[in-house]
Amino acid sequence: MVEQKVRWGILATGGIAAAFAADLVDLPDAEIVAVASRRRESAEAFGERFGAARAYGDWESLAADPDIDVVYVATPHAAHRAAAGLCLEAGRNVLCEKPFTLNLRETEELVALAREHDRFLMEAMWMYCNPLVRRLKALVDDGAIGEVRTVQADFGLAGPFPPAHRLRDPALGGGALLDLGVYPVSFAQLLLGEPDAVTASALLSPEGVDLQTGAVLSWESGGMAALHCSIVGGTGGTASVTGSRGRIDVPSGFFHPERFVLRRDGSEPEEFAADPADGPRTTLRHEAIEVMRALRAGEKESPLVPLEGSLAVMRTLDAVRERIGVRYPGEAGVGAAAVAG
Ligand SMILES: NC(=O)c1ccc[n+]([C@@H]2O[C@H](COP(=O)([O-])OP(=O)(O)OC[C@H]3O[C@@H](n4cnc5c(N)ncnc54)[C@H](OP(=O)(O)O)[C@@H]3O)[C@@H](O)[C@H]2O)c1
Repeated sequence: MVEQKVRWGILATGGIAAAFAADLVDLPDAEIVAVASRRRESAEAFGERFGAARAYGDWESLAADPDIDVVYVATPHAAHRAAAGLCLEAGRNVLCEKPFTLNLRETEELVALAREHDRFLMEAMWMYCNPLVRRLKALVDDGAIGEVRTVQADFGLAGPFPPAHRLRDPALGGGALLDLGVYPVSFAQLLLGEPDAVTASALLSPEGVDLQTGAVLSWESGGMAALHCSIVGGTGGTASVTGSRGRIDVPSGFFHPERFVLRRDGSEPEEFAADPADGPRTTLRHEAIEVMRALRAGEKESPLVPLEGSLAVMRTLDAVRERIGVRYPGEAGVGAAAVAG
């Protein structure tokens, strides 16, 4: 269906939308054709900045625009379900920011809509598209460190974030877990799959969002993951994966690493570094490239970020929230029944 440039629509004009648009501008086979904001002036300013031909002051017009191949949804998490659902129902393909939605039920609804309308849908879990993370996974899958025993990963920001910030606002799906904890959880599940049991503990804000959360995921295989996220403490952002025959250490920024070190038992450490040709480590281009590859191939989901994987991550996030007692406005409950405590 997509023969020439892939024509992107951008839905929302905040921080990550600008970062993503800046990376799209650098891709010769991508074109930003339209942008939508809740305010027309914001859409116009954003469109002017990134060369979009059309600027809409509502989401519906963007969703209905037949000249758009794929919409990138970059609203706060609480609006992902509504924004992505609107686009899928109007026949657009969708790349939706992480966390995919507030909870498992909403992700299930989006996946069902994508299948019903035969559209492409992907969570913008850019870590899974990062070339060095893909290299790490390939090494682990090839048995470079034997059977995976433990995963450690953390992501914390010092802030301080004022109570009005989206990270502190329950109405916007605030808290450390959904915004930052989704990375350690997705990293552990990339290597070990969906856990068989989940335990967690958290410090909650007066508004009822998690300021920091620690979670232990475990697998019947004997694998365990100790994960931590925070919006009140700047952690190292490192990860390590220990196996029966070695270990991999990823330094700060494990979800977009510059390098990692593989220690096979009995051998000298081996360092793997990012290829400068892949662009700066902050680049979001790899997920955009993957979306465009999949669209050209006529695929409805990406093998790098499969929908089953995103559903499994949402199941874990729901289970953690059930344990720590975080519930967002309007949620009847989070569906964690499938994961043992
Ligand atoms: N991949 C990454 O590395 C990364 C990094 C940061 C954030 N994210 C994710 O991206 C999403 C947006 O984060 P951000 O940091 O860009 O946030 P942000 O700077 O606050 O921008 C979000 C944008 O969404 C729109 N918006 C704000 N409140 C809204 C509401 N109540 N309902 C609907 N739309 C609203 C606004 O755009 P308009 O005014 O144009 O409507 C706003 O500029 C979050 O889900 C976050 O987890 C991903």
